[in-house]
Amino acid sequence: MSQKNIFSGVQPTGNLHLGNYIGAIKNFVKLQSENDSKCIYCVVDLHAITTKQDPQKLKENILETTAVFLASGIDPSKSIIFNQSMVPAHSEGTWILSCIARMGWLNRMTQFKEKAGKDKEKASVGLYIYPILMAADILLYDATHVPVGEDQKQHLELTRDIAQKFNTDFKVQDFFKIPDPLIQEKFSRIMSLKDAKNKMSKSDPSDASRINLTDTEDQIHNKIKKAKTDTKSFPANEKDLNKRPEIQNLIGIYSSLKSQKISDTINRFQGKNFSNFKEKLSEVVIEHISPISKEISKLKSDKGHILQVLKDGSEKAEAIASEKVKKIKEIIGF
Ligand code: AMP
Ligand code: TRP
Repeated sequence: MSQKNIFSGVQPTGNLHLGNYIGAIKNFVKLQSENDSKCIYCVVDLHAITTKQDPQKLKENILETTAVFLASGIDPSKSIIFNQSMVPAHSEGTWILSCIARMGWLNRMTQFKEKAGKDKEKASVGLYIYPILMAADILLYDATHVPVGEDQKQHLELTRDIAQKFNTDFKVQDFFKIPDPLIQEKFSRIMSLKDAKNKMSKSDPSDASRINLTDTEDQIHNKIKKAKTDTKSFPANEKDLNKRPEIQNLIGIYSSLKSQKISDTINRFQGKNFSNFKEKLSEVVIEHISPISKEISKLKSDKGHILQVLKDGSEKAEAIASEKVKKIKEIIGF
């Protein structure tokens, strides 16, 4: 079987949550133990500054995101863990690829529309070309597979378009690998505990809307206890979940962490009341998240270790990415 090159990134913008874990990080860890996979995981700080960041806070968040990777089970002796801004090839690659990407392609990006809000004129240019930086991340490492949550699907399609256009324009078939997204069929979009119309998000002003990976057992328990439900009884089958997004989300979280089908969860709790289900849901979430949360706080007390992991990883990443940039430059005639 041919080797899989796995690449993914997480922004160091604080408040990493259960959605990040279920939608992305849990899969990073799983992929690392497949023996035909070479995995590279990046703390994408260049992406983070597309919206305003406090410099001191950003520094802390870079360390915390790295601690989350390590605490979740990503092993630096098996995978490369690094920091985007430590590898200049990402910025250089972005400039070159921004001369390949078309305005029309970027104008379709829904995440930009959501993040820029009503007043697009005030959004940074960086936020607009953010998906090109993401394409550079992926293409510089010849990634074949990119594990992400559902919200990143469109950016992956753009990456494929950029790669294809470059290969065609310069008649270098197969120079850039065309990456496939790895998006789980189910549970790729975990919703807010307060309003299931919205994604669980780092930037939701209500802390109760999300389970942070740094939450204590009591915090997790309280948040799940207060999570929004409805007045109907526990669903009898999967069809009953239609138009009940809050219930669907909670049952989804339970099923995902238990690695079981939604229908198995429904069968187990059918006829019981929601408080009983929420108790069991708390137990499962605590079982998965608490060890991570405890490990994060332990790791954060040894900043030197985290910085060393990033430094070692960045050296390995730099060797791969600078080589690719060198080839890109030859192809385009520099
Ligand atoms: P970000 O926090 O935006 O850097 O996202 C890091 C990873 O987590 C990406 O692969 C996202 O697609 C994924 N992710 C973020 N929020 C959620 C969510 N609510 N449900 C599932 N996956 C998510
Ligand atoms: N844009 C991604 C997000 O916000 C993070 C990211 C940056 C990424 N570069 C990447 C994900 C490369 C996968 C591959 O979630």
